[in-house]
Amino acid sequence: MKRSLLVTSALPYANGAIHLGHLVEYIQTDMWVRFQHLIGNEATYVCADDTHGTPIMLRAEKEGITPEALIARVHQEHLRDFSGFHINFDLYHSTHSNENRECAETIYLALRDAGLIEVREIEQHFDAEKGMFLPDRFIKGECPKCGAADQYGDNCESCGAAYTPSELKNPRSAVSGSVPVLKPSQHYFFKLSDARCQQFLRDFTRSAPNGIPVLQHEAANKMQEWLGDAGENKLSDWDISRDAPYFGFAIPDAPGKYFYVWLDAPIGYMGAFKALAKKQGRDFDTVWKPGSNTELVHFIGKDILYFHALFWPAMLHHAGFRVPTRICAHGFLTVDGSKMSKSRGTFITAESYLQQKLNPEWLRYYFASKLNGTMEDIDLNLDDFIAKVNSDLVGKYVNIASRCAGFIRKQFEGALGETDRTVFDRIITDEALTEIATAMEARDSARAMRQIMHLADEANLYVNDKQPWLLAKDPEQRAQLHIVTSTALNLFRSLTVLLKPVLPALATQVEHFFNAAPLCWADARQPLPVGHRINDYTHLMNRIERPMVDALIAANAESLQAAEQTNKTPEKKAANVDAAKDSQNEHINIDDFTKVDLRIAKIVNAEHVEGADKLIRLQLDIGETENGVARYRQVFAGIKSAYDPAQLVGRLTVMVANLAPRKMKFGMSEGMLLAASDTDGATPGLYILSPDSGAQAGMRVK
Ligand code: 2FM
Ligand code: ZN
Repeated sequence: MKRSLLVTSALPYANGAIHLGHLVEYIQTDMWVRFQHLIGNEATYVCADDTHGTPIMLRAEKEGITPEALIARVHQEHLRDFSGFHINFDLYHSTHSNENRECAETIYLALRDAGLIEVREIEQHFDAEKGMFLPDRFIKGECPKCGAADQYGDNCESCGAAYTPSELKNPRSAVSGSVPVLKPSQHYFFKLSDARCQQFLRDFTRSAPNGIPVLQHEAANKMQEWLGDAGENKLSDWDISRDAPYFGFAIPDAPGKYFYVWLDAPIGYMGAFKALAKKQGRDFDTVWKPGSNTELVHFIGKDILYFHALFWPAMLHHAGFRVPTRICAHGFLTVDGSKMSKSRGTFITAESYLQQKLNPEWLRYYFASKLNGTMEDIDLNLDDFIAKVNSDLVGKYVNIASRCAGFIRKQFEGALGETDRTVFDRIITDEALTEIATAMEARDSARAMRQIMHLADEANLYVNDKQPWLLAKDPEQRAQLHIVTSTALNLFRSLTVLLKPVLPALATQVEHFFNAAPLCWADARQPLPVGHRINDYTHLMNRIERPMVDALIAANAESLQAAEQTNKTPEKKAANVDAAKDSQNEHINIDDFTKVDLRIAKIVNAEHVEGADKLIRLQLDIGETENGVARYRQVFAGIKSAYDPAQLVGRLTVMVANLAPRKMKFGMSEGMLLAASDTDGATPGLYILSPDSGAQAGMRVK
């Protein structure tokens, strides 16, 4: 039976660029939706920009434009990036739309009628100079626990303490710099503490529509923690209003009050569908009213589970709408094992990836090979990225076609011959297809990719075994050559079906090559018939070369410097909360520091590197041995401009010993030498470090 699905990804904020961290989710969702289409289900995929709130309002003000102009510009940028990565939304809308306003008002009024809205006076920090209430993130001061300066009003990035803005020492508004004052104001609350909500959420979070749990196991456990046991009342009411000035929707019958951005953000899924339904003449209620046959599936990051698993379903249910069928949370992205960092150049924007001419399908495949349907974080290891794409996509999959296509064109006028069904049916089995489909349905694309590559290995073994290049030399083997190359190409075509959700653009090229209708799932088991004419083979995919990845990292590191120049004021930092949160911590804690393994190193050899302008190859002794023999670290250091290799031999210095080894053009670099230099260039020169006398090779520096 054909399933009907409405699928969403979380709505990105309309004041920041799409980066690779975002793309994990959009690629995961897009692959899943494309897989549903491929197997014949009806799936609609909507998303939108999340446009409201204080940061966006202040960002527009800083840029000297209206919030409407800002969100219109960012909308175009986001659309450009998504389409660059082949994310195929049915509609990419905006939360600042009439449809969303209508939905937000309908839900709010229904909750009010159900007695689930309460108005209460609360005290909040107010910036009298600016005339606005301050969100916690816009109040800065000294941490009440450790005294670190310039901390946000909700938690300390130096010692990790959580607190309220009132506890900050010497608080300041990040907007005007003035001292905030406490001021009372009426706020609107959604009564999550109401027994009806608690009971509903207990049932909802444990539900399993169509036999599949609405939440992943880990997520359900988290919810259980937040909800507590029956009879416990652990949920607090949720403050859904903000005071003017605020960029958002006015609350009906509440002058000067606006819906908090997180109220109308998930409603944005509905608003987007409403706009799409209008365009396509579809019925809104059929999808959104209770009893709907359409599955509602949300893809989100694990950090916003609370909103999606508690607030959102409670709002929907008590306002008379259907609730989500499934909430699929994924983990965060790290790059080379660490949080994405602007200073290291690993905070990579979608735009820069495309501008540097990296193929978006490389990343789609890499993410597919890592995502397994759980909330575990995934790592983009750049060496592994290069190795995996080159080995799997170019070396295994595309290789089958590139080795066989030429024979069909040149020797058989482009007409396919017979497929050896014994071989084809041994490799492309019903069991293999079912396993791959099951893994894709469960969002375990890592498993699906492993299985697909196993099939590609089998196909390559077949080609290796039959050696068509030798058959081609023997006129008596012409018939056999036709069978072998046709069988191999049909195997390649079946693999393309399986990879189509991950590599949609490549699949389109392959469809053209095979001169046949767009591939669907059933085609995987059905080779093309004898005599079917194919088109000329054109090269399908290049290898990734390390310099391309290095250039990408460099491009992102550079763009940070530019951003830093224009982003020095505390206001700008606060307005750009997301970016600031991620990378601009002015303090690290002691645990961060002890992660760096600094060692005294003795330079046992130093030499010029042929073909390198800046590098010296060093052999460093840090007291390591292998099978009882001293083992030296090879490190390439960019200090040629300042040192003659001969002068270095025998010196003690300091190295980072636990930096991931890096393959360079000239060999492996197994660490990093530390050197001082003047960042603004006023005093030129590079100075390596020397320990005090008595220090020995291998000693830890801490
Ligand atoms: O965390 C975020 O980036 C939010 N803009 C996600 C909103 S998802 C949905 F609720 F709208
Ligand atoms: Zn602190």
